[in-house]
Amino acid sequence: MEKITLRDIEVGGRKVLVRVDFNVPLDEEAGVITDDSRIRAALPTIKYLIEQRAKVILCSHLGRPKGRVVEKLRLAVVGQHLSQILGHQVVVTRDCIGSEVEKAIEKLEGGDVLLLENIRFHPEEEENDASFAQALARLADLYVNDAFGASHRTHASIVGITKYLPAVAGLLIKKELGVLEGILTNPVHPFVGLVGGAKVSDKISALENILNKVDCLLIGGGMAAALLKAKSYEVGLSVKEDKLDVAGKLIEDADSKGVRLLLPVDVVIADRLGAEAKLETVAIEKIPPDWRIVDIGPLTIKGFAAELEGSKTVFWNGPMGVYEIPRFAQGTQAIARLLAGLDATTIIGGGSTAEVVIEMGLADKMTFVSTGGGASLRFLGGETLPGVEALLDKGAKPGGI
Ligand code: 3PG
Ligand code: MG
Repeated sequence: MEKITLRDIEVGGRKVLVRVDFNVPLDEEAGVITDDSRIRAALPTIKYLIEQRAKVILCSHLGRPKGRVVEKLRLAVVGQHLSQILGHQVVVTRDCIGSEVEKAIEKLEGGDVLLLENIRFHPEEEENDASFAQALARLADLYVNDAFGASHRTHASIVGITKYLPAVAGLLIKKELGVLEGILTNPVHPFVGLVGGAKVSDKISALENILNKVDCLLIGGGMAAALLKAKSYEVGLSVKEDKLDVAGKLIEDADSKGVRLLLPVDVVIADRLGAEAKLETVAIEKIPPDWRIVDIGPLTIKGFAAELEGSKTVFWNGPMGVYEIPRFAQGTQAIARLLAGLDATTIIGGGSTAEVVIEMGLADKMTFVSTGGGASLRFLGGETLPGVEALLDKGAKPGGI
């Protein structure tokens, strides 16, 4: 169902609370943003609201502070950066609800922009707590969701708040859904899913759904370690969480659905994490119990390349190893270069995968780089995103709009 967007309603002079996904990577030591693409992606919505003389109240999470104040995860640095690229003053508050915030909002004129403090400093955000959602809703007259990357989360600022304010879609959400829907409704086959990354328990159910769409699934990163372990391989210290039952089921289901599921055949292992670690490349049968997998090996890259070269649509979510450490990034980078050279529709699913592609200067060689990681993965599997679902449908225009 199509959603009402902020262009469909009158916003001038009104207090508009916009949920954005400013969860950007930070160099915490230096206190700088290392990739600002999620901030830039929200600019069309913010600029539109400024032009329309709305009072813009932005709200985001940053990292996973687990419901308490973490100084390094304050949004001041994001506010400063936004102000620079917007060429417009941005007021940043020290909390996201309460009387100080209300006072700051009362001072806003049409066209002003204010950024609330990290919403995840309050545990009630992730609990989707009703009174917290109401406290947020009291700050504004209208709610806009433009946080595509966080729309798979049933949190207070994404879902709860939509009960208490007229809730519409922002321009980034509209664009992401339009592009992903367009590509994924009728993908050209062979369709290859390439999945890595560390958040195994977070992603594994989405992978079950993806089995209904793809012809082949290539698995690297932490995800591969979990699946190898489910197949009874020794993976050393690679797997922290135990989701082995679901991992095993994924392997069985791929088989029964006729989806080829390729796991690494060789891996780079390290005796510890860090730049000074000892490295070796070994077959997956040869991983010692006190080492860990940090990247895919050359034979695996070759095998993945063969699949990718024959594909017509590729969706990639999650790095192939511990790519943050340059010595462990070779597999991820080789895959990125491969995708950039394919004659296929290539979709990059957000977060760290987008970061890699952008950092390597390959973003414009891909068909589409989404700002959502988990969100695009779920969307691709055919799941509805709770944060999108909760927005007003076109045609339904209740009071307050
Ligand atoms: C992301 O980076 O995936 C989104 O901002 C959502 O963050 P989360 O995975 O911590 O919920
Ligand atoms: Mg995430």
